[in-house]
Amino acid sequence: MQLVVATSNPGKLRELQQYLADLDWELVLKPQELEVEETGDTFLANARLKASSVAIATNNWAIADDSGLQVDALNGAPGVYSARYGATDSERITRLLKELGDETNRNAQFACAIAIARPDGTIALESEGICKGEILEEARGNHGFGYDPVFYVPQKQLTFAEMTTEVKRSISHRGKALTGLISQFKQITPIPL
Ligand code: IMP
Repeated sequence: MQLVVATSNPGKLRELQQYLADLDWELVLKPQELEVEETGDTFLANARLKASSVAIATNNWAIADDSGLQVDALNGAPGVYSARYGATDSERITRLLKELGDETNRNAQFACAIAIARPDGTIALESEGICKGEILEEARGNHGFGYDPVFYVPQKQLTFAEMTTEVKRSISHRGKALTGLISQFKQITPIPL
């Protein structure tokens, strides 16, 4: 069965392929010209909107995700605007650290929502995951992307950018959302071991 991935980012496709390897889906990228605006005010609303629109436009099953950083002292900002908070990763981090200033409450979380839509656009499965951490005052580490260098996870005593891909996946918002999705999927179509 084909599952259209509602992204133009080949990196996201590769990551999903690794997670969903033991399910019987052939993952394909969405057509590039098919753009869906993220107009929802929650990650789940955006994931549903993207999965549903791409499913209808391609007349196929589709999967979409939306994710971002929520900082307590900024009332949950940048939230669904995480990607639009600046032009580059470094500008986004600079803006975040400036907005936080010398605020002592550095608590934050990454959140991710994933939805799978049927060809008629109705949602078949959805899942959410969060990873709690703290925003450091300076960047640390060279791995990953986005806000990874300033997102510190006390449980591992490392920033996301200091973790190997495997460790990050085992605790990350995206990893948890995908694990939840896979277990729901296996409940409706048990896969022989
Ligand atoms: P989207 O889910 O592709 O819309 O991207 C959301 C934005 O949130 C990204 O551009 C990053 O800035 C940020 N983001 C989401 N997940 C992560 C992560 O695991 N590490 C760092 N930044 C992230």
